[in-house]
Amino acid sequence: MTGTTVVTGAGGQLGIELARRLDGQQAVTLNRSQLDITDARLVERTLAEISPRLIIHAAAATNVDGCEHDRAKAYRTNAVGTWNVARAAERAGAQMVYVSTNYVFDGKKLGPYLEYDDTAPLSAYGWTKLHGERAARQVLERLFVVRTSWLYSRWGRNFLSRLTNVEASDGPLRYVGDQVANPTNAGDLAAAILDLAQTEAFGVHHLVNEGATSWYGWAAAVLTGLGRADVALEEISADDFPRAAAVPGNAELANETARAVGVTLRPWGEALASHIREIAA
Ligand SMILES: NC(=O)c1ccc[n+]([C@@H]2O[C@H](COP(=O)([O-])OP(=O)(O)OC[C@H]3O[C@@H](n4cnc5c(N)ncnc54)[C@H](OP(=O)(O)O)[C@@H]3O)[C@@H](O)[C@H]2O)c1
Repeated sequence: MTGTTVVTGAGGQLGIELARRLDGQQAVTLNRSQLDITDARLVERTLAEISPRLIIHAAAATNVDGCEHDRAKAYRTNAVGTWNVARAAERAGAQMVYVSTNYVFDGKKLGPYLEYDDTAPLSAYGWTKLHGERAARQVLERLFVVRTSWLYSRWGRNFLSRLTNVEASDGPLRYVGDQVANPTNAGDLAAAILDLAQTEAFGVHHLVNEGATSWYGWAAAVLTGLGRADVALEEISADDFPRAAAVPGNAELANETARAVGVTLRPWGEALASHIREIAA
């Protein structure tokens, strides 16, 4: 596909990885200070000026507990902000990728969630991201909805950044063992989104590194990969870790529709090992 690609939320984990892969191509990457997606007029004007062929909409309010505390802001950003971007995409004649979440599900399914399983979010974050999916679908036909899970990258604060700086004396570290999902390398996701956007396979897709684990399993794998056998870990239940947002017990996704069009991601353990090699280098 030729023409300009726009990335929203370019200052975030995924946005930075998309920008790295689009470097040297016809692309405009916009962080929050360059494009606040809650400003409908600004969004429309900016995207009309650029006239992109593709918009990858990665900007969002992503603090799951923070969304619970400020539901109005979560709705304004994740639902209305997405509607603003989708309307501007429609007017510019652009295709759009909307990045959504595994937290649109309630976690009661036994086994991984498929693309057309029923949604039933438990949290303000999950609801407002689902409203974003619906808002974009109302406006656009040439739309990819890409649901992903538990992103990490070397940029910003995330699950891994805490563990890479831990001291043995900080232990035992307590991690929840009864919530599972797919830890996903933001670089792998960026590459898969760009591959998917080359197809005409519009609709809902799950894009995660293959396989799932718990927060505890993920932490154990990170510490093993970092060679930190000196840090003690303790497995706890979600009941022992109260938080503002309700989180699904099983939030594992399967990448069925993307695989059908040849877009695949490697297993999460392999992606994590290569990430650890990169940060060590
Ligand atoms: N992180 C995960 O584990 C995860 C899991 C499932 C799905 N997702 C989805 O994947 C996408 C990318 O996530 P990520 O991990 O890259 O998130 P991130 O690192 O938090 O990046 C999101 C970016 O959006 C920006 N943003 C927030 N409000 C904005 C606004 N009103 N206008 C413009 N930009 C705004 C943020 O800017 P500030 O930093 O200035 O706030 C941030 O740079 C999101 O759509 C998220 O919902 C993420």
